[in-house]
Amino acid sequence: MVTILPLSVQSATVVKNGTRLLGPVDLSLGETGLTIVLGPNGAGKSTLLRLLHGLEKPAEGRLRFAAPRHETYAKQAFVFQTPVMLRRTVLGNLTYPLTAHGTKRAEAEKQALTWLNTIGLAGHEQQRASQLSGGERQKLALARALIRAPQLLFLDEPCANLDGASTRDIERLILTARAAGTRILMATHDLGQARRLATDVLFLHKGQIVESGPASAFFDAPQTPEAQAFLKGDLVL
Ligand SMILES: Nc1ncnc2c1ncn2[C@@H]1O[C@H](COP(=O)(O)OP(=O)(O)OP(=O)(O)O)[C@@H](O)[C@H]1O
Ligand SMILES: [Mg+2]
Repeated sequence: MVTILPLSVQSATVVKNGTRLLGPVDLSLGETGLTIVLGPNGAGKSTLLRLLHGLEKPAEGRLRFAAPRHETYAKQAFVFQTPVMLRRTVLGNLTYPLTAHGTKRAEAEKQALTWLNTIGLAGHEQQRASQLSGGERQKLALARALIRAPQLLFLDEPCANLDGASTRDIERLILTARAAGTRILMATHDLGQARRLATDVLFLHKGQIVESGPASAFFDAPQTPEAQAFLKGDLVL
């Protein structure tokens, strides 16, 4: 099997309309772990995830995966804060990523039904995905991302607007994926969630990574004034 990680990023920037939104960013993503991306609104968290997933082209610098670029796309998945549903049934949303990559329909449906059980949506197979509640959609979007067992998964605030029970369900799915070896990068504003899930942290401020490291060190002894203020709940200016 082709391994796409580690990913190394050297001096990468994202520029829009002449304004630098992110960078220069240097980082290296190893093969395991769950990195939580923290920072105030507008810090560049979503932009960083989009850059790493290939949705933004670096204006300067470069990204290098352990595999050729064309082999990396199929091994990654991205879950947006507002989940994008295919105009299909709930079952169709889950089978599509499999059949599109050559899995036979019967096998795809078997796997999809197992996932529907896991996310508590058994019985909703034939419902239009667009009719699901926000939390149900978010779970379906995560299941759709996980169904092909990606090596690298990007989650952009997957629990925003969800209640405690749905958040717990999603965290359980995320931890199962992490344990199964999926490398995860996740932006969140929920510090409790960050503490529960993170193996390490990237803290962004004004488009720069100002602090990074193991989660325990970051939460117990943040080094920069920005991270200290952020963790205390102060305004970070
Ligand atoms: N397409 C774009 N064109 C111009 N500016 C953009 C574009 N996308 C994002 N920005 C700007 O880039 C900065 C970083 O945005 P980004 O969405 O990455 O922040 P974020 O850390 O994810 O914030 P939030 O916590 O609100 O989700 C912001 O100032 C935003 O206004
Ligand atoms: Mg964002």
